[in-house]
Amino acid sequence: MHSVKFVDILKVDPETKQRVRYWRNKEHIRRCMIGQEIISEEEHNKWLTNLGSDLRIKFWIVFSEDTPIGAVYLNDIDYEKKISDWGFYIGEDTYLGKGLGKAVLYKFLDLAFSDMDMDYLTTLVLTDNDRAIGLYRKFGFKEKRLSIRSEDDISVMELSKKEWKVKREELENLLRGKDKR
Ligand SMILES: CC(C)(COP(=O)(O)OP(=O)(O)OC[C@H]1O[C@@H](n2cnc3c(N)ncnc32)[C@H](O)[C@@H]1OP(=O)(O)O)[C@@H](O)C(=O)NCCC(=O)NCCS
Repeated sequence: MHSVKFVDILKVDPETKQRVRYWRNKEHIRRCMIGQEIISEEEHNKWLTNLGSDLRIKFWIVFSEDTPIGAVYLNDIDYEKKISDWGFYIGEDTYLGKGLGKAVLYKFLDLAFSDMDMDYLTTLVLTDNDRAIGLYRKFGFKEKRLSIRSEDDISVMELSKKEWKVKREELENLLRGKDKR
């Protein structure tokens, strides 16, 4: 499996911090998000400033080798209930569809369920985002309910720590090519 590294956005250089806005505003990412508005530089800088004091958000830059390629985050962390919303994207086009999504998700789920000690992770996905839904199902996420917005269908997908433990073993075999089913 690809090796990826996560670095807290607060610890990366200013250029990479700004790169996040460029990624988030890209068409292929924006149209997969629930909030699809273009983010201004001012909004982005305000968000960056607030991140330091907002314990409910953890935001990491994903690196492949030394290249920043995307982001993964926990949003709305509830430390008492041990539940959080989360999301991710690969912002550099040349890194898409090469298995990095799987590598990021695998590492992220370990981080969220072990290091961050979450019990449940949920994410909202637009139902036409086949790529993300296929990937999440592969990693054990289940559709919990469907909510209908005016123009979009949104699926809530959830995974528990317990389910991840089981799925992780299955995937480990699969990703290492031991299980050829
Ligand atoms: C979701 C995302 C991170 C996946 O990254 P990726 O680099 O494409 O992922 P991978 O190459 O590891 O592929 C993972 C799985 O996605 C699916 N997939 C990949 N390319 C696909 C395509 N063109 N069409 C449909 N499914 C596809 C496959 O199930 C694949 O698994 P497989 O290779 O075992 O068949 C990336 O597409 C992205 O940033 N999308 C925009 C943002 C987004 O949708 N984020 C999630 C919002 S909820």
